[in-house]
Amino acid sequence: MAKPKKETTLMDKVVGLCKRRGFVYKGSEIYGGLANAWDFGPLGVELLKNLKEAWWKKFVTERIDMVGLDAAILMNPTTWEASGHVGSFSDPLMDCKKCKSRERADKLVENWQQDNGSDEQPANWAGEKTPPQDMLDFIDAKHIACPQCGSLDWTLPKAFNLMFKTQQGVVEGEGKEIYLRPETAQGIFVNFKNVHTTSRKKIPFGIAQIGKAFRNEITPGNFVFRTREFEQMEIEYFCKPGTEIAYHNFWKNFCMDWYLGLGVTPDKLRFRDHDDAELSHYSNATADIEYQYPFGWGELCGIASRTNYDLSQHMEYSAKDLQYFDEAAREKYIPFVIEPSLGVQRSALVFLCDAYEEQELKEGDTRVVLHLHNQLAPVKMAVMPLAKKIADNAKPVFDTLIQQLGLNMDFDVQGSIGKRYRRQDEAGTPYCVTFDYESLDDNAVTIRERDSMAQQRMKIDELVPFFREKFTY
Ligand code: GAP
Repeated sequence: MAKPKKETTLMDKVVGLCKRRGFVYKGSEIYGGLANAWDFGPLGVELLKNLKEAWWKKFVTERIDMVGLDAAILMNPTTWEASGHVGSFSDPLMDCKKCKSRERADKLVENWQQDNGSDEQPANWAGEKTPPQDMLDFIDAKHIACPQCGSLDWTLPKAFNLMFKTQQGVVEGEGKEIYLRPETAQGIFVNFKNVHTTSRKKIPFGIAQIGKAFRNEITPGNFVFRTREFEQMEIEYFCKPGTEIAYHNFWKNFCMDWYLGLGVTPDKLRFRDHDDAELSHYSNATADIEYQYPFGWGELCGIASRTNYDLSQHMEYSAKDLQYFDEAAREKYIPFVIEPSLGVQRSALVFLCDAYEEQELKEGDTRVVLHLHNQLAPVKMAVMPLAKKIADNAKPVFDTLIQQLGLNMDFDVQGSIGKRYRRQDEAGTPYCVTFDYESLDDNAVTIRERDSMAQQRMKIDELVPFFREKFTY
């Protein structure tokens, strides 16, 4: 199906801006790159840092029922047997016998449904877990062709495990085979007892973690939307059996409010509840928050009610008692778990796409502006001496602001003042502080606001309280 032209262009523009301004570069670019690997540049790394700090503040620091964890990426391989990732973390892949291209069978079916406005599906349809023969029979019956060469000659779908394997130990071939974690969640589950004992938190409480995850994705793409290396911000929230659906609803709304609070357009966000066929076997409720990306609606984050599946599995495989003793009720149980799981880079993509605007100012004059929330903006303000000649006079203003506020700032001397404003608009910098010749006499500067472009004159010694208020969240 042809993609809408305007929307494709928006994605290209965001990617172009990211490269031009140092948000995101192609990974290992000087060697021709590595497919779907991306490096975050000076502005990108600030955006990611601000995003993670904003999440940690809202989800952990401000809540007395939350504590943090930073578990190792490399874990005992039994973890992945217990969690089910060794057995079932797989995509059904089929090869085109003619051109040898490899495709996800469930995606071919879903694309066919979309293109034909049909909800017909293979027998025993369970998404990626559909029996391979049922999947192939449907694909043959509907003449679903290879998107690369148009051939109708497919192999039977085969499960392909998404975990990256490596080995621990220096002698080639003799090391123990281990995996790069495909989610941060299991690091939390295996530490449940440690954290519970040492933090003395009582149920309901949650453990939060931000960290890298790795998946050998079959269909990575759409810039940083789906990559093989990414970061997750995850919570496992432990609660009493029977209370989980109320907490599931609570965390769904909490996540949605976080995105809305950081300025994402409400009409471009929606919940999508998984129906029974889509639910994982251990989940009794799962919802995604979806965003309307330039390439269409897609998952932004997931909130799953995972029952007591993971802790039960780890109890069985480790032979350790991971039950919780409820002192008030004098009873023991395996806690149920709600898991809000947000992608860091995917969230950054949403904030960037949503903030991007091209504004026509007057005939022939346009500006590109990133309306990033103050909390996310990589550079909070730029101090600009009007001319190089007065740069030394302006520098103490910059130094004072940095020392008093501790924010990431720019001291921008290059080019005309108009060009400098445009450059800061593209970087999403909320304020510019211009030091001009009059400043030498009146000890005042001009503050220019990014979104409205409004300007106001302010005494230099009023700047710290003014900006402190703007950058307190
Ligand atoms: N522990 C649950 C879990 O990992 P998931 O739905 O597979 O659930 C959670 O992933 C979130 O992680 C997704 O909503 C998305 O934001 C992010 N994510 C997952 N796979 C990703 C990928 N290949 N590239 C970028 N982000 C990804």
